[in-house]
Amino acid sequence: MSMNLTLSVIGCGYLGATHAACMSSLGFKVVGVDTDPEKVAMLSRGELPFYEPGLDTLLAQEVKTGRLTFTTDFSAVSDADIHFVCVGTPQSKDGLAADLSYVKAAVQTIAPFLKEGSLVVGKSTVPVGTAQSLRAELTKTAPQADLAWNPEFLREGFAVEDTLTPNRLVVGVANDRAEEILKQVYEPIIALGTPWIRADLPTAELVKVAANSFLATKISFINAMAEVCEAAGGDVTVLAKAIGYDPRIGSRFLQAGIGFGGGCLPKDIRAFMARAQELGAKQALEFLREIDAINLRARQRVIDVVRNDLSEDLTQYKIAVLGATFKPDSDDVRDSPALDIAVQLHAAGANVVIHDPKGIEPARRRFPNLNFADSATECVKGADLILHLTEWKEYRDLDPSLIAQLVKNKIIIDGRNALDRELWRSAGWKFHALGRTD
Ligand code: UGA
Repeated sequence: MSMNLTLSVIGCGYLGATHAACMSSLGFKVVGVDTDPEKVAMLSRGELPFYEPGLDTLLAQEVKTGRLTFTTDFSAVSDADIHFVCVGTPQSKDGLAADLSYVKAAVQTIAPFLKEGSLVVGKSTVPVGTAQSLRAELTKTAPQADLAWNPEFLREGFAVEDTLTPNRLVVGVANDRAEEILKQVYEPIIALGTPWIRADLPTAELVKVAANSFLATKISFINAMAEVCEAAGGDVTVLAKAIGYDPRIGSRFLQAGIGFGGGCLPKDIRAFMARAQELGAKQALEFLREIDAINLRARQRVIDVVRNDLSEDLTQYKIAVLGATFKPDSDDVRDSPALDIAVQLHAAGANVVIHDPKGIEPARRRFPNLNFADSATECVKGADLILHLTEWKEYRDLDPSLIAQLVKNKIIIDGRNALDRELWRSAGWKFHALGRTD
């Protein structure tokens, strides 16, 4: 019965395109709406405008069934019973807070097309209180509709898996009816035994930012330990392994290195701090300022190691940067620590050449003045130093003896603690890694 429901997805970026294709794969009729005609044209042809393993095939397959369509015409949502709002909430240009203009515009634009009994479901990450105020607004402009919040926890690189087999479903609702509708949509996922958490609107919004803040804290914690290890002559990788065996701590997200980036963790912790301040709870989240500072310091620490290895003046040196994306299996370069480090070294006068398996084009669009190489071997040719900054499998598979024949100096810095140190050293390399003393 639930398959008779028609869904709309507003905003067809990372989150929206994934959600639309996944919901279609569950058997729903889905219309995706976006203001960008180029994106809509690509998606309508079944082509993904970004890289995400598995989503390309799923999208093509769903478009072919005819269940999944895309349009720039917002009136197309008028057939739908449930409307998922998946637009971006980037950091605002003039501060730490999130820019809510896209979310507000999305809800306002669809309001005139909402049919009796329909449900608007926000999935975008928003500051706590947003859902309640959007719902109050909607009650005035479209009293026939209701609004709920259903935060998304998908990771780039695992988007399909995280949408279809999430580790929990969280719904913020103001009444039983909204919960029932969402239960119908997610019925096949609930049937897998997925935990279902009903919350009020503010708690649902908070769950999302609390989860991302915790993850950011875990990463900065281990990077703080890396700093102490460096000062004390310890090894953070051994430390992480040892503490991770305690199930209360857990071993995941304890990979020390150049820290977190991307379109979520950095901006989410900043927006959370800004919101807490507005709510008069500034002190409660003061620690996130330090989490942010530790994270940004990791980038600086790599640059210090480079200067230490080469010279204060970098103008005579070629530095090969392996990795531009904020993490592997993604082409996303938003707030990428790797790219930030490359930019800073370039600005310091070094001859920086960057390679990435999927991120060269997005990186070039952002920084057209940087130099890029089409392959890792091309990138390292004649290099005085190699920086390994995004842990793609391709880089772990490099043969240090072969790479040794291409470079000028056999120096490598592993910014992700992902390479086999002994293997590189046995091939004659000077090998440094963050948080590991030699
Ligand atoms: C993150 C969350 O993990 C998702 O649950 C959430 O849904 C998503 O944000 C979002 O808010 O939309 P994502 O941005 O895809 O997902 O990336 P993560 O896998 O969390 O990695 C974030 C950054 O932390 C990367 O730059 C990664 O290299 C870094 N990281 C991760 C570390 O430096 N060390 C680790 O141990 C783990």
